Amino acid sequence: MKKVLKWIGIILGCLLVLIVVAGFILVGKADRMMKQKFTISPTYFTVDSDSASVARGKKFVNLCKECHGKQLEGYAFFNEADLGMLYAPNLTPGKGGVVAGYTDVDWIRAIRHGVRPNGDGLMIMPSKDFYAMSKDDISDLIAYLKTLPPVDHEKPGDNYLTTLGKILLSTGQFGELYSANEIDHSKPAGTAPASGATAQYGEYMVQISGCRSCHQPELNGGKHPNPKSPIVPNITPGGNLGKWSEQDFLATMKTGKTPEGKQLDPHFMPYTAFADLGDEELSAMYMYLKSLPAKETNTK
Ligand code: HEC
Ligand code: HEC
Repeated sequence: MKKVLKWIGIILGCLLVLIVVAGFILVGKADRMMKQKFTISPTYFTVDSDSASVARGKKFVNLCKECHGKQLEGYAFFNEADLGMLYAPNLTPGKGGVVAGYTDVDWIRAIRHGVRPNGDGLMIMPSKDFYAMSKDDISDLIAYLKTLPPVDHEKPGDNYLTTLGKILLSTGQFGELYSANEIDHSKPAGTAPASGATAQYGEYMVQISGCRSCHQPELNGGKHPNPKSPIVPNITPGGNLGKWSEQDFLATMKTGKTPEGKQLDPHFMPYTAFADLGDEELSAMYMYLKSLPAKETNTK
């Protein structure tokens, strides 16, 4: 009996040591992942800053608000005490802003390639979605960004992940940390179909708005990048959307209240940012989503 207990003790002890060692390895891996550098040479294109370009670019800034804040003043969009904090920086010329010395190439490098001027990879910044934007649309967006009024807002602290957060990161639970790893950096910019309430333009808007980063590549739902979130619903006609009219979809995107009476949580489904894209863009998205084959709902 004593011998058996002794062996159980030894096995449990070994397991504990293994778990601690595995923990150290995973935390070390996460620390290295959070310091990744990239050397890329962005293709420069001229950013026209005339007032028409600035006016056209205003729309696209709504794609940034979900993380960078309503006025792009910086926002800790991921802030979970047990997992960590990630801050998307202040993009205005105000106090705490990081884009003071930015040239057009710096903007292009950050938005299209997900890389900071010093070569740091930008964590979570969804450049792989923005990569599909046309040259003209990115150029207009940059023209608008350069006119942002200053908002004073300092970073609340350095980005960090707790030990649990690091283990989730290094085991791939948050998905790919850097868009820069998923982009073919030599690919030319995308092309945009004519804007209008068409399925074709909707496909473009859905692509660059990052709906797939949460609703999954097939848009049939599944796990959210933030493990605290409710499961992400199916937005092909196989889900509730199959029964919605265009007005139902617009109302859902504007108020967060679905025809089924559910109030969407703006912390996990950033509808307030998307609502500001405008009716034409939302209608186009609806046309596109409605045109998809009805996919079975994914809950994984
Ligand atoms: C899903 C969240 C998310 C969205 C949406 C997003 N960003 Fe970011 N962005 C980040 C994070 C996080 C960082 C900081 C990453 C880091 O510190 O590693 C960042 C960094 C940046 C930087 C680099 C600033 C610096 O430190 O030099 C720029 C520029 C930028 N974003 C522009 C934009 C623009 C323009 C848009 C919209 C077209 C946008 N971002 C949309 C999350 C986001
Ligand atoms: C950051 C993650 C995220 C992004 C990006 C995102 N969604 Fe969502 N979406 C969610 C989550 C999570 C829910 C469910 C929220 C809840 O249950 O409170 C949701 C719910 C919805 C619903 C309600 C579906 C139903 O059956 O009730 C629609 C419609 C929707 N999203 C459309 C979109 C569209 C269109 C885009 C892109 C423009 C988009 N979402 C981008 C996370 C996201």
